[in-house]
Amino acid sequence: MVMATAPGKIILFGEHAVVYGRPAIAVPVFQVETQVSVEEWRGTQVRIDAADIGREYDMADVPPTDPIAAIIRLTCAALGIEPRGLSVRVRSTIPVARGLGSGAAVSVATARAIARYYGRDLSREQASALAFEVEKLHHGTPSGVDNTVVAFAEPIYYVRGKPFERFRTAAPFHLAIADTGIPSPTLITVGDVRRLWEADKTRYEIMFDQVGEIVREARNRIEGRSPADLGQLMNRNQELLREMGVSSPEIERLIEAARRAGANGAKLSGGGRGGNIIALVEEQARERVASALTQSGAASVIVTRVE
Ligand code: PMV
Repeated sequence: MVMATAPGKIILFGEHAVVYGRPAIAVPVFQVETQVSVEEWRGTQVRIDAADIGREYDMADVPPTDPIAAIIRLTCAALGIEPRGLSVRVRSTIPVARGLGSGAAVSVATARAIARYYGRDLSREQASALAFEVEKLHHGTPSGVDNTVVAFAEPIYYVRGKPFERFRTAAPFHLAIADTGIPSPTLITVGDVRRLWEADKTRYEIMFDQVGEIVREARNRIEGRSPADLGQLMNRNQELLREMGVSSPEIERLIEAARRAGANGAKLSGGGRGGNIIALVEEQARERVASALTQSGAASVIVTRVE
């Protein structure tokens, strides 16, 4: 039996605008992960066991767009192998459709496990590229930020269609990540933003430009020694996301709770309308912010250190 893993992720700045060519910053979240194991299975079938999401099936019985079947086929095609007689077991602590990169992590971990089973190793570029193909099946127009940060498992500055840039975190900082408990498929929010952009391109392009400025400034501050100032930029990014129409009352409630409890700034992360919010927290405010978020209805709170 072989096994492979991939972490979750969050977008720090720039979601949605990144689909329109502006930069985004994303970081891996190692407190949650997907684990995939592959072993021999009698007969010729490819058995997929994804019990966490309540599914166990044969690859032959699902449409080719099934995300796990799709990544198995894509990986095997890239390796020049016909998949048969396999049991693929997927386990994940990354909640689905909450902006934590669950889809990308399942793809990256599955691609790696399949390759390893056949005695091959995928580079991080290859794992990312294969996962991107699955993102396209499901998101329509993904920017590629999710598969990149999950496959490379390091903070990235990302512009669609370009090689990502690594950057230095001058001083580590902490984020509280709080789940609204509401699943929000990226496909829907990305589609809604596209319709709104089509109806008023001038207004949306201005908002995307403003987000782009925030992202560039955020990178400067992370590389310099002033991560506390990031809070203000998170608040400004959130205002723009609200104006774009992707916030929600649940998101606003958690953001408000975090700010009141002493967070330096907060915003939604990912597609929006549900999913997770992130809040910048200093050492002494960590506990207070985490418990305020729980009291305000967060389904879970993770505190992560970015470095
Ligand atoms: O997968 P999520 O929910 O983290 O959202 C992805 C971020 C978007 O910018 C909204 C879409 C994309 O493809 O970058």
